[in-house]
Amino acid sequence: MTLLVTGGAGFIGSNFVLDWLAQSDEPVVNLDKLTYAGNLANLAPLERDARHLLVCGDIADSGLVRELLARHRPRAILNFAAESHVDRSIHGPAEFIRTNVLGTFNLLEEARAHWDASSLADREGFRFVHVSTDEVYGSLGPEDPRFSETTAYSPNSPYSASKAGSDHLVRAYHHTYGLATLITNCSNNYGPFQFPEKLIPLVILNATQGKPLPVYGDGRNVRDWLYVRDHCAALRLVLARGRPGEVYNIGGGAERENIAVVHEICTILDELRPRPSGAHADLIAFVKDRPGHDRRYAIDAAKIARELGWSPATRFETGLRETVRWYLDRAEWIRGVQSGEYRNWIAKQYAGTAT
Ligand code: NAD
Ligand code: DAU
Repeated sequence: MTLLVTGGAGFIGSNFVLDWLAQSDEPVVNLDKLTYAGNLANLAPLERDARHLLVCGDIADSGLVRELLARHRPRAILNFAAESHVDRSIHGPAEFIRTNVLGTFNLLEEARAHWDASSLADREGFRFVHVSTDEVYGSLGPEDPRFSETTAYSPNSPYSASKAGSDHLVRAYHHTYGLATLITNCSNNYGPFQFPEKLIPLVILNATQGKPLPVYGDGRNVRDWLYVRDHCAALRLVLARGRPGEVYNIGGGAERENIAVVHEICTILDELRPRPSGAHADLIAFVKDRPGHDRRYAIDAAKIARELGWSPATRFETGLRETVRWYLDRAEWIRGVQSGEYRNWIAKQYAGTAT
């Protein structure tokens, strides 16, 4: 028994692999292209662990995926691999279409061929879990009901449109070919190993380095935050007991305005690592808004609670404090990720954005 995990050197994927191997001896083949977002340091505890095989490669490489499926005969594929950052998708959408749409299509094609050629017993047990996002549902107004599994797709950014495209393909492979696919649509994750281009780690690192804390627009956009290890627990349940062909929404039940999240990080840092003069909140800088910025995301996670007994175990305040502590204790990891490429991105994204 083996799992094929794609994108397992990224933020959520590496948390998943580490948690999986802490709880199970079932080996993991981890296919990751090691883009700027993939980080071997996340997987350092598994360096000499025979249960983990890292393969540096592309989900869009059909020969490689075919060879991995033939050699390892996984009982499931969990597809985390993606370009995942909305702002980058605005600057350069092509890579998002290539990996998220064409890459997923390739994985599905190879999975289908592998599944077709398997024994009846292996075919019955096989699962393809596609890790997707709540952003495919578009943007909510303040009084709108939360996203459910039947909310119509309405993606607004090149990132969410590429994820929506991949979700549709995954769904079609179940409907047309009977491949046992499952789709999860999850809200914003936070926690250890998140690349500091996303709001929470960016604010933590900028604050500790005395840099401005960029808040887009009026700061009142709402996200529904979920601690990453709670997401991983939900995925383990979907893999074990989810019904093929189904969609499961996963959410934190923790809607917060961005400005409130930034203030909360500042308050934690004021306590754990006070600045020599002034409060961390003094660093907050409102900057030009993200083009097409979705106003509010919120997930109705009733289905996964009802069917699989999952609910988030970590309160936002607790998870955020743990996350801040994690970054404060990881000077070396941070030095590693704040490389030349990272500096280039920050210079490009935040140049001339002050309002
Ligand atoms: P991430 O950007 O941190 O990691 C993505 C990983 O995929 C990296 O390790 C990267 O090297 C790898 N990758 C990229 N292109 C690849 C390719 N062509 N072939 C193989 N590997 C490739 O992303 P994340 O935040 O960990 O998100 C993982 C998945 O979860 C994504 O599909 C994302 O859409 C989804 N998701 C993320 C969030 C969130 O808040 N971060 C929320 C819901 C869903
Ligand atoms: O909802 C799930 C999605 O959450 C995932 O599918 C994506 O992969 C993930 O990146 C995340 O998307 P967001 O765009 O919501 O996350 P991000 O951390 O980029 O931004 C969170 C909010 O904070 C958003 O409203 C934009 C705002 N923001 C972000 C940055 C980077 C700022 O105000 N300032 C910033 O500098």
